[in-house]
Amino acid sequence: MKAVFIESYGCQANQADAERMEGQLRVIGYARTGNMKEADLILLNTCCVRETAEDKVYGKIGEIKSLKRERPELIFGIAGCMAQKEGEALLRRAPHIDFVLGTNKVHRLSQVVRKLEIRREHIVDVALGETELPDESEAPAVRRSAISAWVPIMYGCNNFCTYCIVPYVRGRERSRLPEDVLREVEQVVADGYKEVTLLGQNVNSYGKDHKQATFAQLLRQVDAVPGIRRVRFMTSHPKDLSDEVIGAIREGKHICEHIHLPVQYGADKLLKAMNRVYTVEAYKALVARIRRALPEVSLTTDLIVGFPGETDEDFREMLDFLREIRYDAAYTFKYSPRSGTPAATLPEQVPEELKKERLQQLMDVQNEISLAINQELLGRVMEVMVEGPSKNDGQVWMGRTRTDKIVLFPHGQEQPGDFMQVKITQPQTWVLKGESVE
Ligand code: SAH
Ligand code: SF4
Ligand code: F3S
Repeated sequence: MKAVFIESYGCQANQADAERMEGQLRVIGYARTGNMKEADLILLNTCCVRETAEDKVYGKIGEIKSLKRERPELIFGIAGCMAQKEGEALLRRAPHIDFVLGTNKVHRLSQVVRKLEIRREHIVDVALGETELPDESEAPAVRRSAISAWVPIMYGCNNFCTYCIVPYVRGRERSRLPEDVLREVEQVVADGYKEVTLLGQNVNSYGKDHKQATFAQLLRQVDAVPGIRRVRFMTSHPKDLSDEVIGAIREGKHICEHIHLPVQYGADKLLKAMNRVYTVEAYKALVARIRRALPEVSLTTDLIVGFPGETDEDFREMLDFLREIRYDAAYTFKYSPRSGTPAATLPEQVPEELKKERLQQLMDVQNEISLAINQELLGRVMEVMVEGPSKNDGQVWMGRTRTDKIVLFPHGQEQPGDFMQVKITQPQTWVLKGESVE
């Protein structure tokens, strides 16, 4: 066996691609190593959603230069969204890269590596076939978790939010056929997985292209796969989360009561400038419908501060919005101009210092809310799926509730993948600490 070192950045869609790539590489004789220095092949699966994501990758590319000098036989490739965005330019910047593979060329990885094993050259394959779907007969993914599986249901994005590079580097929306999704779900359940997360940039528009099933129908079908214990999905664009989807979650046995419903901003002026299509009022009405149907639901969001034109008043409106909605958690970002997107050329860019300040304020407000919500769970007994030992303490298990809250509790006889009843004794902002009551 040869050794491959894979590092993947960015969203779950990218992680899922990395798992497929590892699957292909296994077929041609590569096993994964965690040690870059002993690798025969190094693959960075990159993200370009924010400048910080790109900086990390450029740092890593620099690090690999000396490895490549010591061992010229080492094969070094870049895949993912930065590869798609930069293409050839990456080779000019860093000639020690052997190949650049675009987001729609994941299925070609093993061919590219084989070619390079025989003869060294630079390979750039970044054509963005707008209608291309992965080959369903490809080698099975080598998954990172043994209990929870990522299952892509669609690729690409059609929404063109004005700050976002994703539609340019992932191409148009393409949905997998429902039978292909179901076959993969059945396979992972047969392999012992307990949980699947259905992935797409906007799962609510699943099936709008092939019209073989809506997202609500697909959810119901996945929920009915014998042996499945938990079904999750992300991401939901608020503009088209239908009542049918809410109904499917409500009636489904295994569909978890957690919706990641990124609002991005809490004021109409900014939502409009971001091309998010909905208004604050429409979003609030949607949240009210969701909470009426699913009283236990947890809601999480993504928020961007420092979008061009954001004023103090807009920002205050956003904080009020947050206090009103009360998300369980929020992923907060400073706006990062992405060249090629409309927002990058807008006047009134917000200075970095101000972005930082607002980000901190935003996090402070949200942390207070998250803590208050979690404190209401004190004394509650919740179903937790054990995922593995906690990062900081091998004597403590880490698991999740159906509402996607992280729970830490002392080690017993249970194993990863077991379902436990855990009493919450110490709720905190990011985690719930508890003890098993079995
Ligand atoms: N499809 C998902 C998001 C994918 S990108 C959705 O629509 O919700 C993940 C998050 O990164 C986005 O929700 C957004 O909050 C953030 N993001 C995207 N582009 C950004 C940029 N240029 N600067 C800062 N944050 C950005
Ligand atoms: Fe980006 Fe908007 Fe598409 Fe999400 S919906 S990936 S934020 S363009
Ligand atoms: Fe990043 Fe590409 Fe995902 S830009 S967030 S890895 S779709």
